[in-house]
Amino acid sequence: MNEENKMNVETTEKAETAANTSGGEFANFDDAQEFEKEMEARRAKIEADKLLPPDPDALLEVRHLNKYFVLKKTFFKQIPLSTLKAVDDVSFTIKKGETLGIVGESGCGKTTMGRTVLKLHQPTGGQIFFKGQDITNFKPKEMKALRTEMQIVFQDPYSSLPPRSTVGDILSEPVKVHGIVPQSEIKDYVMNLMEQCGLRDYYYERYPHEFSGGQRQRICIARALAVNPKFVVCDEPVSALDVSIQAQIINLLKKLQIERQLTYMFISHDLSVVKYISDKIGVMYLGSMVEFGKKEDIFSRPHHPYTIALFSAVPNPDPDEKTHRILLSGDIPSPANPPKGCKFHTRCPRAKEICKHIAPKYREFEEGHFCACHFPEE
Ligand SMILES: Nc1ncnc2c1ncn2[C@@H]1O[C@H](COP(=O)(O)OP(=O)(O)OP(=O)(O)O)[C@@H](O)[C@H]1O
Ligand SMILES: [Mg+2]
Repeated sequence: MNEENKMNVETTEKAETAANTSGGEFANFDDAQEFEKEMEARRAKIEADKLLPPDPDALLEVRHLNKYFVLKKTFFKQIPLSTLKAVDDVSFTIKKGETLGIVGESGCGKTTMGRTVLKLHQPTGGQIFFKGQDITNFKPKEMKALRTEMQIVFQDPYSSLPPRSTVGDILSEPVKVHGIVPQSEIKDYVMNLMEQCGLRDYYYERYPHEFSGGQRQRICIARALAVNPKFVVCDEPVSALDVSIQAQIINLLKKLQIERQLTYMFISHDLSVVKYISDKIGVMYLGSMVEFGKKEDIFSRPHHPYTIALFSAVPNPDPDEKTHRILLSGDIPSPANPPKGCKFHTRCPRAKEICKHIAPKYREFEEGHFCACHFPEE
C-alpha cells in the first residue's frame, strides 16, 4: 500500500472509531465496548488472513479488498479530509471456467470493484491473487505481461471504440503490442477472431460509427479476446442494448466461454441476465458484499433482506404465479456518507438497535454461501 493510501485508511479508521465511541453514536446503546471489540476482531482477522496461502482452486482470489477515493484534502494536500469507500472489505474467489455475477443498485461499487481487481485502479487495501500470485502491488510493467490474461469489456460500446480507426486496426493493435502471433499472421488471426465473434469479414475496413450497438459490442468483445485472456470482466456489456440484441450478445459470451475456457466476472443490475449466465452471484450494497454464493443457493435460499428485496423485483414469466414484491423504503444513502453499523439498516425491514451500531460479520451459512446480516432469513 502506498503512503497516501495508508494514511487514507488510517485517518478514516480513526475518525470512525472516534465517532462511534465518543458517546453520540451510542447514546441509546449500552455496549460501546462491543463496537471496539468487534473492530479489534475484524482487524485481527484481516491480519490473520494475510498469512494464509492462496486458494489453489481459485483463478482469482480477493481478500478484504478496499478502494477508497479521496474527495477532499487539506490545503497542502497532505491529509484526506473525506473519503468515499467505493469498495469496502470485499472478499471472494472465482474458479477457472466459472462466471461470477455481481449485482447491486447503481453506485454500489460494481465497476470500481471490477476495475480494481484488474488493477486499473490501485487498491487502497486488501489482497488480489491471480493464478496463486499476489498481484496487489504489481507495478505497471509487471501488469503489462498480465494484461494478456485479464481483460475488460466496457458498458458503453459507443464510447469505448476509437472513432478514427478501422475495425481491422482496432483488433490488430493489441495482437501487435503483445506479440500474440508473428506480424505476417496478424490479418488471418484477426479475421478468424472476427468470425468467432459473429463479425463479417468485410467489416475489417469499416469504422465504428458504421455499426449498430450490438455489432459494436461484438467488436469490443473481439478486442478483449484478441490477446487470448483467461479472465474477462464484463461490465454491464448488454445494458446499452435492445432486449433482442442482449440475448445474442449473452449467447455469444456463453459460446466463447466454452470454446476458450474463459472465466468471467459479469457485472449487471439486470437480475434475469445474471441468473441466466452466472454460476455464482455476489450481491453488493454501498461498497460491501452483503451476500455471496452459488446461483441456486442465492435464488432459492437468500439470507440477506436486501437480496430478498432485490430478487422479489424480478418479473415472473408465469402469469398464474403470485409474486410478493418487497418495496424498500427510502433512497439509497450516499456512499460518501454511509450509515453507521450495518449500511443497509436505514432501509431494512428487519433492522433492530444493534444494526444501527455494529456492522454484521460476513459469515458462511452453508458451504460457499456467505451473508453479512445480524438477523438473516434462515
Ligand atoms: N474516480 C472516482 N473518483 C471519485 N469517486 C468515484 C470514482 N469512481 C467511482 N466513484 C464513486 O464510487 C461509487 C461507486 O461507483 P461505481 O461506478 O463503481 O458504481 P456502480 O455500481 O458501477 O454503478 P452503476 O450501476 O451506475 O454503473 C460511486 O459513488 C461513484 O460516484
Ligand atoms: Mg458501473
